[in-house]
Amino acid sequence: MWRLFAFILPVIRVYLIGVKVLLYQLFHRSFTLPEQLGCRLRMKKLIWDQREGACRGFDSSNNRLLFTRFSLRREAGRFTSRNPETVQRHTADTTKDFDEQTVLRNIKDDLRNASTLPRQNGTVAIVTGGARGMGYETSRHLASLGTHVVIAGNEEEEGLRAVRRIQKESGHRKGTFARFRSEAAFSRTEKNSIIKFTLCSAGVMLVPERKTVDGFELHFGLNYLGHFLLTNLLLDVLSDSGHSGRFSRVVTVSSATHYGGRLDLNDLQGRSCYCSHGAYSQSKLALVLFTYHLQERLWARGDPITANVVDPGMVDTDLYQNLCSPAQLAKKPVAKLLFRTPAEGASTAIYVAASSELEGFGGLYLYNGHKKSSSASSYDKQLQEKLWTKSCAMVGL
Ligand SMILES: NC(=O)c1ccc[n+]([C@@H]2O[C@H](COP(=O)([O-])OP(=O)(O)OC[C@H]3O[C@@H](n4cnc5c(N)ncnc54)[C@H](OP(=O)(O)O)[C@@H]3O)[C@@H](O)[C@H]2O)c1
Repeated sequence: MWRLFAFILPVIRVYLIGVKVLLYQLFHRSFTLPEQLGCRLRMKKLIWDQREGACRGFDSSNNRLLFTRFSLRREAGRFTSRNPETVQRHTADTTKDFDEQTVLRNIKDDLRNASTLPRQNGTVAIVTGGARGMGYETSRHLASLGTHVVIAGNEEEEGLRAVRRIQKESGHRKGTFARFRSEAAFSRTEKNSIIKFTLCSAGVMLVPERKTVDGFELHFGLNYLGHFLLTNLLLDVLSDSGHSGRFSRVVTVSSATHYGGRLDLNDLQGRSCYCSHGAYSQSKLALVLFTYHLQERLWARGDPITANVVDPGMVDTDLYQNLCSPAQLAKKPVAKLLFRTPAEGASTAIYVAASSELEGFGGLYLYNGHKKSSSASSYDKQLQEKLWTKSCAMVGL
């Protein structure tokens, strides 16, 4: 009976969290990178639609509709954009009569001053799982900003294909492939580089009980422990590459399932009762605990490195390939309607890695481009410390 509960509860938790995320995605647009907003700066023509109380924007070069509307609301003496994708802030003085021209001018000013992601020339980013899905989108975007991306993956052919595509797109040699498995050798190879970013995106979900080559349960070993080891091995290089005002950045990719995660320090690898849903949520909770504790240690040492954790939402990638057949069938139409695309899913990680607004900010959990609270247990400092100590022992640090 106890075993049945231990097996079923994590499944129920994961599905309930999934429904909650989908409901959020139904009512909220995906976060848009400042860069994408920046490309709209060319837009000159704004048309006010009195009937709809909204504004339409056209690309002046080809008169193409760029976005449908800024829904402006009269709100506490201000007109505020309800569309986070476009302008965050524009105001009109409502003590005067409504002045359409003022509103349009404010919108244009905001668009002109909108920030873009800064160029990252001369930097190196290591992106685990960078050959596919969100990791690939992240690698691609960072390469377009001038970063040399090292894709750390498992499938060499796929990794090299991704590198070639990135090189073709960016027009430079902006990509290399390295095996994620041999972290030690890998970090030695990169020791002389100016590594500014480590993005921990590799992951598997709901895999039937399997082990990594080192004998760790796959979710725990790959999603968490591999990233724990890799990041620790790269800390000195990251520290040397950063300086005050331009910190190096570690970004880990967790998931909303961490809210349902339970960390069993006595049985981290689910030996007593294995449940793939529980194993996945646990590995994602471990990533959050690790990121927070890492940041504490970095502040204490005075290292110019920040560590943040992101939650990409539900994204249509190969990650769902291990769902059971009925769930696969149900997932297809839902994914079409409500899941984010890999590019949308990657946008928060890219933002956290490259935006100047987050310079110097660490120990944050970000979802859809905004700071959010993670689960209560993830802030438990004792648990963070214990997991860190245990992880060091497991990987021999
Ligand atoms: N998709 C979602 O809805 C969602 C939601 C929340 C969080 N996430 C998280 O986002 C991250 C990216 O997932 P995704 O959705 O982009 O999934 P994906 O398309 O399946 O990509 C997973 C990546 O992980 C790598 N990987 C898998 N097994 C590996 C192994 N044994 N060794 C090294 N690398 C391995 C893969 O590299 P190879 O191709 O080289 O095997 C692949 O690039 C994951 O950490 C996932 O948990 C995803």
